[in-house]
Order: sequence, then structure tokens, then C-alpha cells
Amino acid sequence: MEADGEAYGLVERGALVIEAGRIAWCGPAASLPSAFTDLPAEDLGGRLVTPGLIDCHTHVVFGGNRAREFEMRLEGASYEEIARAGGGIVSTVRATRAAGEADLLADALKRVDALIAEGITVLEIKSGYGLDIETELRMLRVASKVAESRPVRVKTSFLGAHAIPAEFKGEPDRYLNEVCLPALKAAHAEGLVDAVDGFCEDIAFSPEQIARVFDLAKDFGLPVKLHAEQLSNLGGAALAARYGALSADHLEYLDEAGVTAMADSGSVAVILPGAFYTLRETQLPPVDLFRKHGVPMAVATDCNPGSSPLTSLLLTLNMACTLFRMTPEEALAGATRNAAQALGLEDCGILSAGKRADLAVWDVEHPAELSYRIGFNPLYRRIFGGAA
Ligand code: NIG
Ligand code: FE
Repeated sequence: MEADGEAYGLVERGALVIEAGRIAWCGPAASLPSAFTDLPAEDLGGRLVTPGLIDCHTHVVFGGNRAREFEMRLEGASYEEIARAGGGIVSTVRATRAAGEADLLADALKRVDALIAEGITVLEIKSGYGLDIETELRMLRVASKVAESRPVRVKTSFLGAHAIPAEFKGEPDRYLNEVCLPALKAAHAEGLVDAVDGFCEDIAFSPEQIARVFDLAKDFGLPVKLHAEQLSNLGGAALAARYGALSADHLEYLDEAGVTAMADSGSVAVILPGAFYTLRETQLPPVDLFRKHGVPMAVATDCNPGSSPLTSLLLTLNMACTLFRMTPEEALAGATRNAAQALGLEDCGILSAGKRADLAVWDVEHPAELSYRIGFNPLYRRIFGGAA
């Protein structure tokens, strides 16, 4: 809970009142207003209550898997070499195009269920493995069906500028003209897009090409975010900041000028330790510079078949602390308050009156346990919109 001065904003012996799916009041039980004292109450036995967790960067909708590439990397091939040889993202594109909507949904739900079992109540899902108009739309429809199929909120990001598909190899601008921009237009017209994302990298799109996609997002009034500075520094985060991005994500190769650009635009730094770990990256994201310049940090799984086949946000918090020296308090804020900000959500991510009653109740004695354990799930109960 939010309480000034206490680490984690922790309230000892707290009480929380839920009315009509919202938090009506929360604070020390001893201060519970008399208006609420006669309501039916439940004793949670001293357990920890946090906001429902938010995974603000995932690619959970995709076909196939890339276990063979995992083996190839162990045999010495790099992520970029595999991508340039027609594997990587483009190989998931082949499998995703071949999959029907029902299969894509069934596979995505297995991953979503694993996240929900750890107390996730909001999840972002990107397109970007279709790379043709039809399949990009199909991915976004599946993403919205996830929210109809499970008690979880989904925010979608259009990621048509994720990779250049084989049939447009060497012609990124023609791909943007003929597929990516028309797909964004069609997806937006169907109400399928909450934000627009891209991958700014030598193996993907240049800042100038990403700017073309962001210009269309701006015309549609859609917020933007960007996979930036993951493998090299092309100035992607600064470009995103110029468009007032909700977030820039990955950021291992970001420099201080990029950090200050993000600070000026109020963009969230989304830290993705699963990709860092899987790719055996050694360049650390500039966590100290984010602290120095007051850039909020979120932490997310980046669940995807290639660089981060990870469906545990709790494990991700542990990785953020162990690999990047984030504090458990920063990690928890990164999966709640700052993750909400990275999605442009103001009605969740903290416990305070008026917010949605999206809660996680944990069998732990101290909030640091959420980051400290590896492969253990202490969730006692998840409450979504006031319902257990
Ligand atoms: O977030 N960086 C680009 N996109 C994904 C990787 C996707 C893939 O390899 O399939 C990411 O890491
Ligand atoms: Fe990603």
C-alpha cells in the first residue's frame, strides 16, 4: 500500500475495502472509517497484499517454438547470425502464418495461464509475427480474445515493424508501404490497437523507418513504445522520446543522452532480463543512470519464442535484481506501478482508493521474498476487479 516513508509503501496490519470492483478505502486497520466496519470482512491471516502484477511487454501470441535455435546458439551461432540466415523472428513468422486463430489462442492461453497463476492481472500482448496484413490482424484478434477467455486485462501493441519478412528482404521501405502501414490502418479501424511498437536495430528497422510508423500512430492518436538499444545504440530511445513514448524497452546499449531524453519525455524504461539472460548478453542496462535521472523502471517477461521463452514474472523480478542489481523494491514497483505507467494505465498498479481492485495476496512475510525466491510461487489468492 502507499504509505509515505515506509519501504515498499508497506502498511502493517492493513485493511482494504472493495466496493463495485474498486478499492473504496485502504490503510491501517485501526483507522478503518466507521462506514466500513459493518461490511462482511475476511481475515487474510497477516498475508501480504500487493497490486495485481502487470506484465507490460509480452509476445505471448505466436506459432511454433524455437528450441532448435536454442541448440544452435549453444553450438556457437549468435542471435543475429540466426536472424540473418532466415531464422529468428522470421521463422516464427512462418509458423504463425500457418496457424489458425483457434490454435494461436489455445497456445497463448497456456502461457497466459502460467502468468495468471503468479498473480498477473494485466498483460500487454504484441503482434509482429504476422508481418502480412491478414496475420497481423489475426494476432491482435487473438490477443483481444485472451481477455474474453480469462479474467485478465489485455493491452495490445501493434508491432508490424518487428522484422522484414522474407518476401521483402532488403526492401524495408516497400514492406512499410505495402504491409506495415496499411496493417496498422486496418487494425486501428477495427479497434484492435492500444499502442504502436517497433524494433529499431540493424537487423530490423532504422530510426527513420520507425519514425514513419510513429507518424501514422500520431495521426491516429495512438501512443508509441519501442524495442530500442537492445543490440546496439541507434538512438531509438531518443527517437521514441521525441514522440512522447510510453516506454522504451530493452535498452542495454543506451547512453546517458538517451536516458536524459527519456527523462524529459516521461517515458518508462522497460527492463527485460529474460532476453539478456537468454542471449547471454554482457552489456548491462544503465540502471544507475535511470535512477540518477529519475526515469521510472518497469520489469517484464518479454515472453517470446526466441530471445525470452519466459513465462514467470516472479523469476523475472529475481533476474532483475540478481543480474542488474535492481532492488527488490524497484523490481516490485517495476511489475506494478511503473508497468501500469508503461501501458498508459492510471486505474491500477498501486493500492489506493478509486483504483481497480486487482490484487495479489501472497504467503510471504516480507515483500522482498517476491524477488528473492527462484522457481517458487507464493501466490495465495488473486483478485480481479474485486472478484476472487
Ligand atoms: O523483444 N527484440 C525484438 N523482439 C523480441 C524477440 C523476438 C524473437 O526473437 O522472436 C524481443 O526480444
Ligand atoms: Fe519484445
